[in-house]
Amino acid sequence: MAAPLHIVVLAAGQGSRMKSALPKVLHSLAGQPLLHHVLDAGRSLRPDGLHVVIGHGAEQVREKTPGSDIQWVIQKEQLGTGHAVAQALPGIPETARVLVLYGDVPLTSADTLSRLAGVISRESLGLLTVNLLDPAGYGRIIRDRHGAVTGIVEQKDATPDQLVITEVNTGLLGAPAERLKEWLPALSSNNAQGEYYLTDIIALARSEGLGVEVSQPDDPEEVQGVNNRVQLSGLERWFQRRQAEALMMGGASLADPARVDVRGRVETGQDVEIDVNVVMEGEVVIGDRVHIGPNVVLRNCRISADARIEANSVIEGARVDHGAAIGPFARLRPDALIGPEARVGNFVEIKKSSIGRGSKVNHLSYVGDTTMGTGVNVGAGTITCNYDGTSKHHTTVRDGAFIGSNTSLVAPVTLGERSLVGAGSTITRDVGDRELAVARGRQRNIADWVPAEDGLDSEEGDS
Ligand code: UD1
Ligand code: CA
Repeated sequence: MAAPLHIVVLAAGQGSRMKSALPKVLHSLAGQPLLHHVLDAGRSLRPDGLHVVIGHGAEQVREKTPGSDIQWVIQKEQLGTGHAVAQALPGIPETARVLVLYGDVPLTSADTLSRLAGVISRESLGLLTVNLLDPAGYGRIIRDRHGAVTGIVEQKDATPDQLVITEVNTGLLGAPAERLKEWLPALSSNNAQGEYYLTDIIALARSEGLGVEVSQPDDPEEVQGVNNRVQLSGLERWFQRRQAEALMMGGASLADPARVDVRGRVETGQDVEIDVNVVMEGEVVIGDRVHIGPNVVLRNCRISADARIEANSVIEGARVDHGAAIGPFARLRPDALIGPEARVGNFVEIKKSSIGRGSKVNHLSYVGDTTMGTGVNVGAGTITCNYDGTSKHHTTVRDGAFIGSNTSLVAPVTLGERSLVGAGSTITRDVGDRELAVARGRQRNIADWVPAEDGLDSEEGDS
C-alpha cells in the first residue's frame, strides 16, 4: 500500500502587490476564489490530509472557504515557505508523503499534480519545474554535469551565471514527512531575504543521497502564480479560452470564443449556438439546438432542447423547457419554471412561478408566486400583486385563461379555466371557469364637454 498522502497549501502571505484589502487567495478567478481552485485540484488526488497554512487575513480566508476536510494551520509570522510548511508538520504522520501547493497558483491540473505526487517516496523528492523564456523572479533550478538537480537558488541569491538559467521552480514539490521533520527545523535564514526557504531542502536531500525526480506541467500556464491583478487577468483569459474550447469540442458553436465566460460548470448538447458576451455561472445545463443570443447571463439553470434565449436576458435558478422562447430583455428569477413551447417576452420578470405549456407572457409583466396552466394568454402590463407588505400570496391561473392588458391580480386569487379578464382590471376576487371579469371604472362619454369655438364649426368645409 502506498504511504498516505498529505497536502499542504501555503496561503499565509499578504499578497501586497494586489493592493487590496482582500487576502490574495480570496481574489476570484472564473468566479471562484483562487484558494478554491487549488483545493479542488488537491482533492482530486483524494489525500488523506488537507492542511491549509494561513496568516494574513486568516479569519476571512477561513470564513470564505468551506470544507470539513480542511485542517487549518496558523502561521503567525510569515518567515518563509520552509517555516510555513513546518507549521503544518505536527498534524502529519511520519509515514506520509507530503505534497506542497501554493494558494496563489490556482490552475495546476489534476494530472500534473498526480504525476508529481506519484514520484514522492522515502527515497526521493518530487519537484515540479518549468522552462520560461523570462525566468525573472523565480528560483532557478541548479543541475550538475550529469543533469541531476542539486539545488534551487532564489533570484535574489543567484549569481549572474545562475540568473541565465531558464528552468525555474514552480514552488510545487513533494517529500517524505519523516525527512521534512528533520530538515525544516534545521533550515537557516541566512540568505538575501532572511527567510526560511523550503527550496533549501533540495540541496539537503541530495547531500543525504535522496533522489530528486523532476516533472513538468503539460502547459506552462498551469503553474503561473498570481502576484498582481495583471497576472490574474492573464490567467483568467487563458482559463476562459480553455473553457470556450471545451464547449466547442463538445458541440457548441461560439460566435466568438474570446467573448464567452464560464464561471462554473456548463454542460451542452449538440448544435448549441452561443452568441457574444454570454456569461454562464454555477451549474448550467443546455440542451440540443438551444440558441443563446448576445449579452445573456445564465446562472444555475437548465435550458432544454430547442429553446431560444434572446438578447439581454438574465436567467437565474430557473428551468426552461424544450421549445420555449425567452426574451429579449427577460428576467427569470429563482424557481421560474417555463413549460414547453411557452413564451416569455420583453421586460417580463418571472419569479417562483410555473408557466404551463404554450402559455404566453409577452410584454412588460411581473409574475410571482403563480401557478399558470397551459395555453394562457397574459396581456401586456399584467402584474401579480403577490406581496401585501407582510407576506407573499399565491395566484392560480387555470388552462386557457385570457388576461387583458394592464391587469392587476391581487393575490391570493384564482382565475378559472378559459376565464376572461377585461383590460385594465384590478382583480381581487376569484373568477370562475369561463366567466368574464371586468373590474374597472365604467367609461362615461359626456357630449359637448368642450365648448364649440365660435364660427369655426360653421366654417368647416368652406373654401
Ligand atoms: C517561491 C519559491 C521560488 C519559486 C516561486 C514560484 C521559495 C523560497 N521560493 O518564491 O523558488 O520560483 O515561489 O512562485 O520557496 N507563504 C506562506 N508563508 C510564508 C511565505 C510564503 O504561506 O512565510 C506562501 C505565500 O502566501 C505564497 C507561497 O507561499 O502562496 C509562495 O510565497 P512567495 O513569497 O510568493 O514565494 P516566492 O518569493 O514567489
Ligand atoms: Ca510568489
